[in-house]
Amino acid sequence: MTRLNLDSAADREFALGAERRALGHDDGAFLTRFDKSFPVLHDLFVQLYGERPDGREALAGVVASAAASWRTRSIELKAHDRRREADPDWFQSERMLGGVCYVDRFAGTLAGVREQIPYFRELGLTYLHLMPLFESPEGNSDGGYAVSSYRRVNPALGTMAELAELAAELRLAGISLVVDFIFNHTSDEHEWARKAVAGEPGFEEYYLIFPDRQLPDRYEQTVREIFPDDHPGSFVQLPDGRWIWATFYHFQWDLNYANPAVFRAMAEEMLFLANQGVEILRMDAVAFIWKRLGTSCESLPEAHLLLRAFNAVLHMGAPSVLFKSEAIVHPDEVVSYISPQECQISYNPLQMALTWEALATGDGRLLQQALDRRHALPPGTAWVNYVRSHDDIGWTFADEDAAEFAIDGYLHRRYLNDFYVGRVEGTSSRGVAFQENPKTGDARIAGTTASLAGIEAGDSSGEDRVVLAHAIALSTGGIPLLYLGDEVAQLNDYTYRDDPARAGDSRWVHRPLRPDAAYAARRDDSTTAGRVHRRLTALISARRRCPEFAGNALIPFHTSHPGIVGYQRPGASHTVLVLGNVGDHPIHIDAVTFSGLAPDAHDLLTDQRVQLDGGLTLEPYGFVWLRTRAGA
Ligand code: GLC
Repeated sequence: MTRLNLDSAADREFALGAERRALGHDDGAFLTRFDKSFPVLHDLFVQLYGERPDGREALAGVVASAAASWRTRSIELKAHDRRREADPDWFQSERMLGGVCYVDRFAGTLAGVREQIPYFRELGLTYLHLMPLFESPEGNSDGGYAVSSYRRVNPALGTMAELAELAAELRLAGISLVVDFIFNHTSDEHEWARKAVAGEPGFEEYYLIFPDRQLPDRYEQTVREIFPDDHPGSFVQLPDGRWIWATFYHFQWDLNYANPAVFRAMAEEMLFLANQGVEILRMDAVAFIWKRLGTSCESLPEAHLLLRAFNAVLHMGAPSVLFKSEAIVHPDEVVSYISPQECQISYNPLQMALTWEALATGDGRLLQQALDRRHALPPGTAWVNYVRSHDDIGWTFADEDAAEFAIDGYLHRRYLNDFYVGRVEGTSSRGVAFQENPKTGDARIAGTTASLAGIEAGDSSGEDRVVLAHAIALSTGGIPLLYLGDEVAQLNDYTYRDDPARAGDSRWVHRPLRPDAAYAARRDDSTTAGRVHRRLTALISARRRCPEFAGNALIPFHTSHPGIVGYQRPGASHTVLVLGNVGDHPIHIDAVTFSGLAPDAHDLLTDQRVQLDGGLTLEPYGFVWLRTRAGA
């Protein structure tokens, strides 16, 4: 047992020693990357585990895992690594389009997903996120987010070999497979969990287990409740009376990353998934991975160090894989995870929530403010912009941002919740509350895009709202992500209420089975599904044809109307001006507002020429994508 040296060179040979002999003569690429990543990983290990007596062995173990994984990485994936290395900005293209679905609900099995590839191509997907598909407990498994084995696919869906084949087939179709890396917790049925509870040496320290309430009580003074419907606080009691950390459901036990053996074990699971052909790992619940007494136990500095360390390991063993951050937290914290060294891509929960906020209030100022000041990202990174996901909508805007418009964050959230669950006069939204907390007055919103937008209630503006929300997500840069089913206006599914395994979790309302009838009607313009599909696919193809939509550059475009959201997507010779009316009255923007732009514009959606020197009227929930020469 030895501690880490402060000098990385002194630990380098110790870590590489045996591996050097095992690596073949064609493994020069590994050694080149090792040379670059080892000092980084070493430095992170010193910060995370410098005090541990076994730090040096722990680091050597991680290096051994990365080298072993590289040795078994397929020739195809190594070739793919080289292609990505030659084109590191591949995910910034205007051709990128993501889709997300549950394997069972959308296609039954992995074989069923395979049968959907022609549809994914028709839609233009380049990225497919399959919701958690690993072995997990029977009944409630938090939609698969309680993982019992990262190496076995839920047998009802298929096998790991089928997943690897699917990944290869998707890659041939130009689609990158995305799966969750659920690394904050495992299910209580995971082998590590069973061993930890049984006190098996080497495993007790895998989770955070306490003999009594003393420390849990102290932690709970500063930690917020995430799933209060399931259990109060962040701990659950084991049958033997001890308490274990469980941020989410009682059967999802948080891993203890203060133990380097946990880091190594999870790094091995990560490399295993990378070698199945997964191209992007969605870093689930990333904000929660490090705990310290007296803090919120969210987004602590060590969470960032851990992400960097996982990245350094990936760089050695599976260099083309990207991380996607899932941090649904304060906007300052969301961006803190986004960098080439941590998560190269990230959900944009603020833009998503504020799109719904704007549609509820008819006031686009908070959304505009977010585009003005919270959109910029470091080079080499991108947003994933979406309208709905499998999760609830949390109103994660910053109170200090809202205060600038004299909006009280707390009251505003209450209003938005009331609006979306239909408690406000005149709303046509059919949302359902999620995790309503009587202690704090907090709640979040569940519901499909179409039901939240009013289509379920027969509101004649519902379709326009759905299209406008997507027109924003598809034009603000990065990777737009469709919640599959939304392109045919799928409605809420209330059957979860009759199923004991799902009844307690209202998010199931927006996780319907694939709406077969709506898909069959997708070319029939006399149906809602047909009209929404026609309009959304027109947006998708217009985006693909327009190089200015690549990357993340965005210049705000202000009008004097609070109901208008505006921005330009600048390119080399042209710029695309996007304007959207989030309210239910027509708005005329006068000519002078456009005086900085060349007046002769091309409407990318109608393919008509538009003269801006006459001003422009936007209908309720109307929008334009106008391409014009840069500069007046
Ligand atoms: C993420 C998932 C969510 C899940 C939670 C716990 O937030 O998106 O569905 O409940 O993590 O794994």
